[in-house]
Amino acid sequence: MNAKSDNVVWHHATVTRARRAAMNGHRSGVVWFTGLSGAGKSTLAHAVEESLHRHGCRTFVFDGDNVRHGLCSDLGFSVADRTENIRRIGEMTKLFTEAGVIALTAFISPLRADRERVRQLVGDDFVEVYVKCPLAVCEARDVKGMYAKARQGLIKEFTGISSPYEEPERPELVVDTSVTELDAAVAQVVDLLAARGLVPA
Ligand code: ADX
Repeated sequence: MNAKSDNVVWHHATVTRARRAAMNGHRSGVVWFTGLSGAGKSTLAHAVEESLHRHGCRTFVFDGDNVRHGLCSDLGFSVADRTENIRRIGEMTKLFTEAGVIALTAFISPLRADRERVRQLVGDDFVEVYVKCPLAVCEARDVKGMYAKARQGLIKEFTGISSPYEEPERPELVVDTSVTELDAAVAQVVDLLAARGLVPA
């Protein structure tokens, strides 16, 4: 399909993912947080990372606002650009899993098909966490003042206002941040990772 890579040969490392996992004492994988802007994805992803890191796990958080300043600085918020944003992040997280790291991502990732593509790419160690929060609550929080601007039409194609958000149909976990304390949410995610054998119990 991708003609540009037809003549590129894949090199197989002798230091494998399994050997890295053995050295690290935990498996690698992708914890994909999805939800509206202001739902609490970044807060939860970083808090989970803090907990895992304290337990000696190798982790890295990919955050929408940060990645869009670098790796994806050429992309905007059209459907096509969001799809490309998620594709690149997906490829990056796949590499991080190969490197033995637990990658945690905090992107709105509004389109189901985009998230499914990453799930297919990563395979079994992809864990989707729906950071659920009613739009009205996200809007009331309006941490970055963007909902107000979106309502005024100053920001176009804003997720939940003038651009769609497709809820996950079968996420591994749903956390409703309008009713769940952060500590409890972290515990739910970490327990899930332990139950799946990604990290030791
Ligand atoms: S995604 O849709 O491609 O997954 P991403 O998570 O990278 O989005 O970026 C979302 C962040 O960009 C929001 O938290 C917000 O701060 C900012 N932003 C700027 N414009 C928009 C927009 N039109 N829609 C959503 N978020 C936007």
